[in-house]
Amino acid sequence: MHGLNRSMVSFIVMIALVLGSSHRGFSEVGGGGSVVLTLWDSHPVLIVITGFFLLALVYLTTMLSTANKKNETLSEQLATSQAELLRDREYLNSLSRHANAPIITWSPGYRITEFNRAFEKLTGRTRDEVLGKHLEILFPDESRLESMKHIDRTVAGEFWEVIDIPIKHKSGRVHSVLWNSANIKSPEGKLIATIAQGQDITERKKSEEDLVKAYDATIKGWGYAVELKDRSTENHSQRVTGLVLTIAEELGVKAEDLVHIRRGAFLHDIGKMGIPDDVLLKPGELNAAEWDIMYKHPEYAHEMLSYIDYLRPALDIPYCHHEKWDGSGYPRGLKGTRIPLAARIFAVVDVYDALTSDRPYRRAWTKEKALEYIKEQAGKHFDPNVVDVFVNHLEREGFKAD
Ligand SMILES: [Fe+2]
Repeated sequence: MHGLNRSMVSFIVMIALVLGSSHRGFSEVGGGGSVVLTLWDSHPVLIVITGFFLLALVYLTTMLSTANKKNETLSEQLATSQAELLRDREYLNSLSRHANAPIITWSPGYRITEFNRAFEKLTGRTRDEVLGKHLEILFPDESRLESMKHIDRTVAGEFWEVIDIPIKHKSGRVHSVLWNSANIKSPEGKLIATIAQGQDITERKKSEEDLVKAYDATIKGWGYAVELKDRSTENHSQRVTGLVLTIAEELGVKAEDLVHIRRGAFLHDIGKMGIPDDVLLKPGELNAAEWDIMYKHPEYAHEMLSYIDYLRPALDIPYCHHEKWDGSGYPRGLKGTRIPLAARIFAVVDVYDALTSDRPYRRAWTKEKALEYIKEQAGKHFDPNVVDVFVNHLEREGFKAD
């Protein structure tokens, strides 16, 4: 405004000077100049207003020209931005389309809005068969409910969550796919869409399962090897393993720990591989020196298995199954809950099975008699809590379980 005022004042001064000089010029030359002189003398205000008018006209023309130039610049910038945006969008679409990982987006109402070629390959479905459809069509019947629960939690939680959600191929084949996802929101925080990227782990899972099967087959082989050597306990490992797992489940052992208990139960006497045949296979009672040798079999098991990574968590039973609740067991004389729970469970089932099986030196006890012995040993040899669960289980099952 100050600049404008200065311009206006300068212009008025300029008009006044021009008119003043004209006045003098006309006075000198006479003629037509006398009309302007008359106007200046009679209507100076009119002359000033005309000056203002001319000034405004020049100012507006200048402003209009400047604005036009700015508009042209803005239009050019807008066109450039739009071109860049389209290029970026095309780049991202191309990246998504050609990505090896399956990618899918869906609306807040779980309708599929976009997916890439890898996803098409994963499901074997065309765009027409999938776009606009509910996500549910992608899941096998048996896991559909669980999968939708996972997705509900992810969509509600605004976080990345890696989860294994099986996807059904059009042919019926089921793929294991690890998914992570993210919510896309408007600047106002409203959910617009969810995008998820998957990793097909079907082959990897199969390899892992095959590996676990190979491990378990090896463990069974070792278990049978011990039984082949020590004929008096034939099928003992197999019989006790099932019952040990049942009692462990009833005691609340987590599913992921049961696999170690199963392996440990099967290998409980693997340490006997280190006992000389003249002691292990002796027909009669062992003497004190021979018992000292026999007592070493849990330590042999520990030495053998602790070098094998995947069997280390299964060591509790082979190493501690001869420990006793009152601390009178071996090899370390552990007492009470210092004995691992798996070994406390195994001890009860192991003794029960041994008592109810024929041995070269005695006939099998009846189940009732063996159970009485187990009850009587609660708090001495056995953990009383484990005995309670074991007895309840057998009574509930009517002694059917072996
Ligand atoms: Fe043993």
